[in-house]
Amino acid sequence: MPRALRSMYRPPGPDGTARVQDLARCLDCSSDLLGREACPGCGRPYHESGGIVSAIGPLTGRNRVAGAFYDGPGWARFRPWERLFLRVQGGETRARRQILRHLTAPPFARVLEVGIGDGANLPLIARDWTAYGVDIARIPLGDCLGREPSMAGRLAHAEAEALPFADGAFDACWTLGGFNYFRDHEAALREMRRVTRPGGTLIVADEVPHLHRFGIGHLIGLKAFDVFWLRALGLDRDFVAMVLAGDLDVDSVIRGAWPGATRHPIWGGLGYCFVHSDPETPIPPPPPRSSLA
Ligand SMILES: C[S@@+](CC[C@H](N)C(=O)[O-])C[C@H]1O[C@@H](n2cnc3c(N)ncnc32)[C@H](O)[C@@H]1O
Ligand SMILES: [Zn+2]
Repeated sequence: MPRALRSMYRPPGPDGTARVQDLARCLDCSSDLLGREACPGCGRPYHESGGIVSAIGPLTGRNRVAGAFYDGPGWARFRPWERLFLRVQGGETRARRQILRHLTAPPFARVLEVGIGDGANLPLIARDWTAYGVDIARIPLGDCLGREPSMAGRLAHAEAEALPFADGAFDACWTLGGFNYFRDHEAALREMRRVTRPGGTLIVADEVPHLHRFGIGHLIGLKAFDVFWLRALGLDRDFVAMVLAGDLDVDSVIRGAWPGATRHPIWGGLGYCFVHSDPETPIPPPPPRSSLA
């Protein structure tokens, strides 16, 4: 069936704003949840606790390492360095706007941030949009609710690689800052495209992979030195090993999954921002009455 026909919005909940379960599709059997906390097809639970819907299984590969880092003490230690990096780019707001200026959607759009963290981008998007977010780490999702209590019911503990949403549920979808270490880049890009309606904007942005290769340890051929300074910034042992083993070819992965995506350099060349929009597929007219049985 053409994507345009499968794409549809779920109805809003009783308070007028759709919650995660109103837009959700079961990860196991693809049934629509239709607002329920358990899948009507297979019974898989999608409990909401404290405003966050659980739609995740045990993490594996890079997601296990990243999830432990962002839910652990290392992220709090590393955060000031990330902020400093963004401040050097002319200030955190300006650095984020280099990406978010590409995020276009109609008034009252539904938009999804994948890897929303503590929601630092939410104050920078159009006020009449309704934002949703997923993340593999629970503590940043709680911080997001602390920052923006109205996000309750619109956050899911879920992986980019398995988004618990119906096809075409959103007008736009973006991810900023986590992509390089997603467990399965192709799967995440496929999922972002699936849950966004045709014509909707898709964005993926992060620092250029292998940024650590600008580090002195790499330049003088002393890996132990890079391990030392990356650990000193707050990254834990597993995350450092993941960074040093990274082999992501971001151009070929993104152009493979989102043909026609345009690349915009950001952060003085230290970051990338890919923007993609599927052409609107016109919905074919209904068959003439005489051909209906
Ligand atoms: C550097 S933080 C950025 C947070 C936010 N996007 C921002 O701009 O401030 C990266 C976030 O991506 C999340 N993340 C990493 N891998 C993920 C994945 N495979 N699926 C969903 N979230 C992921 C992390 O848990 C973390 O909260
Ligand atoms: Zn199911």
